[in-house]
Amino acid sequence: MSRKIGMWLYSNGGGDKIQEKIVKKLRERDIETLTEMNLRHAVAKNGHILHNDRKVDKLDLFFSYNAGEQTQYQVFLYQALNRVMPMINSYDAFALTEDKFQTSFLLRQHGVATPSFKLCHRDDTHHLQGIMKKWEKMVYKPTDGWGGVGLTKIENQATLDMLLPFLNQMDLRFFYVEKFVKYDNTDYRVDIVDGEFVGCYGRKASGTDWRTNITSGGSVFLREPDDEVIALAKKAAEVCSTDIAGVDIIYDMEKEEYVVLEVNGIPAFATPEQEKMGLNFNKKKIDLIVDLIDRKAKK
Ligand SMILES: Nc1ncnc2c1ncn2[C@@H]1O[C@H](COP(=O)(O)OP(=O)(O)O)[C@@H](O)[C@H]1O
Ligand SMILES: [Mg+2]
Repeated sequence: MSRKIGMWLYSNGGGDKIQEKIVKKLRERDIETLTEMNLRHAVAKNGHILHNDRKVDKLDLFFSYNAGEQTQYQVFLYQALNRVMPMINSYDAFALTEDKFQTSFLLRQHGVATPSFKLCHRDDTHHLQGIMKKWEKMVYKPTDGWGGVGLTKIENQATLDMLLPFLNQMDLRFFYVEKFVKYDNTDYRVDIVDGEFVGCYGRKASGTDWRTNITSGGSVFLREPDDEVIALAKKAAEVCSTDIAGVDIIYDMEKEEYVVLEVNGIPAFATPEQEKMGLNFNKKKIDLIVDLIDRKAKK
């Protein structure tokens, strides 16, 4: 075959079947795929990055799609490879979306609505006290987290005073907080590939938690986004330069507008159970990804 790409895609939740479909469709375009290219097992040797004695840097593209298993080592090699070959997502887009502060900052610079946020040095906790008076409720967020883990809702001054000593012990460089948005405890997850709308679903928080994440007890439901939601997701994906993006959006009931919570660079395909529920965007997503790889792989 004339072109060869490397791929590392998650295998749980139906990922293995998705991989098979992508590989097949690429083969029809005369593109060979080397799968299971886990950079965890790669080594850099002089000017090359070797995986099973194969030079990864000589491939025509690398497609990295495994959120759960990414380690610092893999990210380090991701960055190096991105300097010499096309990658999906690009390292810059990947690194940006891994960080909620960097993402929100860039989105706001480009006029994309997000919750109000503030970042301050860990020694400037007096700022937090001040914001608390203005915002009434806020959310403390680890900037590199996922699945709702570590998010803490701060409801009043007393909670903040109680929390600060714990946060101080955690050896953080900074505090990132957002105004707590009054919303209906549901969100939109909108998938965008190559600038095109792929699909959408909603998540609803369980009765006992304010977070919509599945890991926090939230549940998925079918949801048709209106044009405004789609346009917002497209804009967010464009600003972040993500070839593939899953944009999380909620409706701010006080400001009466949609806001972007975060952009995920490795949004999951619909699982077999979700497909049974009626979430049917996988085919479109696979087709758009195959087109994208075909276009971006070195000729
Ligand atoms: N500023 C906020 N106001 C109200 N709820 C929020 C806010 N930020 C996040 N949430 C809730 O917490 C969930 C997780 O937040 P998110 O920023 O998407 O982080 P994660 O990467 O952990 O999913 C969201 O889906 C939403 O339900
Ligand atoms: Mg989220």
